Amino acid sequence: MNRYGSLAASISICFMAGSALADGKSVYDASCGVCHMSGVAGSPKLGDKEEWVERIAQGNDVLLKHAIEGYQGKTGYMPAKGGFAHLSDDDVKAALEYMVQNSQ
Ligand code: HEC
Repeated sequence: MNRYGSLAASISICFMAGSALADGKSVYDASCGVCHMSGVAGSPKLGDKEEWVERIAQGNDVLLKHAIEGYQGKTGYMPAKGGFAHLSDDDVKAALEYMVQNSQ
């Protein structure tokens, strides 16, 4: 690969990493935050390490399944995709990663 080719490749990698994070936050802000920002209906609050520690211990696969398919837990009911059916599985995954990163 010539100099310009590898430069272009590294720019696009940076761009992709940056946009994945931004998407997670914007999906969270627009959809998940409605409940998770303040703990509405028994939802674990963003940034509340105590509420998240046992949930995170289940592993991201379980959390993602619960977020996509919906989940009746001990404190309340998490609707499938938060009730926002237009979200893709990847949108939910990005938002979940944003929530987990900011809650541990
Ligand atoms: C209508 C309110 C509401 C919205 C909107 C919502 N959630 Fe939740 N969520 C809940 C409640 C309530 C729980 C707690 C369920 C329990 O454990 O009893 C929960 C739990 C969770 C959990 C933990 C599941 C587990 O296994 O402990 C994850 C992950 C989660 N939500 C992700 C999301 C994501 C991602 C979004 C946005 C796409 C979202 N939620 C939107 C109400 C909501």
